[in-house]
Amino acid sequence: MANKSANHWPWWPLLPLYPYGQRKTSCRELLAGRLWALEQLQGIFYVVVPIRMLVLKLHEGLLLYAPVAPTIACLDLIHQLELEHGSVVTIVHPSSSGLEHKVGVPGMARAFPNAQLWVTAGQWSFPLQLPLSWLGFPSQRTRVLFEDGLPHSDQLDWLALGPVPLGPGPFLEACCFDRASGALLITDGLIAVSDHWPDLLDTNPMPMIFHSRENGSETIADTPEQRLKGWRRLVLFACYLRPAAVQQVFRLFPFRWQNNWEQDFHALSKSGALQVAPILEELVFARHRQLMADWLSECSRLPLQWVVPAHFDAPVAADPNTFKELLKSWLSKKTSTDEVDNRKLLKGFNKQLEKYRLVPLNH
Ligand SMILES: [Fe+2]
Repeated sequence: MANKSANHWPWWPLLPLYPYGQRKTSCRELLAGRLWALEQLQGIFYVVVPIRMLVLKLHEGLLLYAPVAPTIACLDLIHQLELEHGSVVTIVHPSSSGLEHKVGVPGMARAFPNAQLWVTAGQWSFPLQLPLSWLGFPSQRTRVLFEDGLPHSDQLDWLALGPVPLGPGPFLEACCFDRASGALLITDGLIAVSDHWPDLLDTNPMPMIFHSRENGSETIADTPEQRLKGWRRLVLFACYLRPAAVQQVFRLFPFRWQNNWEQDFHALSKSGALQVAPILEELVFARHRQLMADWLSECSRLPLQWVVPAHFDAPVAADPNTFKELLKSWLSKKTSTDEVDNRKLLKGFNKQLEKYRLVPLNH
């Protein structure tokens, strides 16, 4: 087990999310000898979700997809993979808007000075639009995906989700299909949520225990049942921001859940099926549904076997029919009635964005 200082990440104030300067990293082999996940946790107020970097083995060496915070412990894990499978030759930052995926990129690039860095177009910074080199991206070895070419295209297919015009800059995601394994590497485009919580939460179960309580005076009981209950509630928060079943907000203990909250979890989870995250559907694709439809349709033509997102479950077994079904339900625009109340806050937020012209309306 890595010691505390090996998990230290000094750049956390750039995006101050829990667990701040302490980022434990776990490593899992997802597809034997081909694909690994390096996972960390991030969140706000104990709403903690996994964030994942993927390490893919190619003929030339290793490709890092969607870097996480490069702590000493995280770099040690990558170096161990390098010993067996070859050096890191390529780093891909596949998202234009996901700040949580961007903050670790400059440090990861510095840690592998011989690797080529590829980024999506339309990178933006807030509140000021700064050049990439000012944000710590090495300009000499940074290339823009699709514009400057595509890395390892003899082994990989690259697909763009977007660009979707947003207020500060576009949403654009570069997805990578590994022909050898049939795995589609994605970032935020799809998620699958289930009862399976990240292993890292077992080393610090406090976020799950916190959400499992009914009130502030309840004794803290750490049992598998309480962890599951807390995890399901935490997922509802992460996906809806404010779940409908949270009835009252108190000052000392913030949440009181209605009896039906568990049904809401099942309606959201859909037994762990792949889906467009509610936040993405309501806030990013609300005015640009066709762009998601185009991407789903493109994915349905790939001989895929796995989808590997950067959050929640991974890998998720899938095939072209999975994407045909997703496309069908996306085009039918039907939100299940169980989900309507839960999406109210997100829909309201989207209306505010439109009202104050924080997003472009003409499309
Ligand atoms: Fe993300």
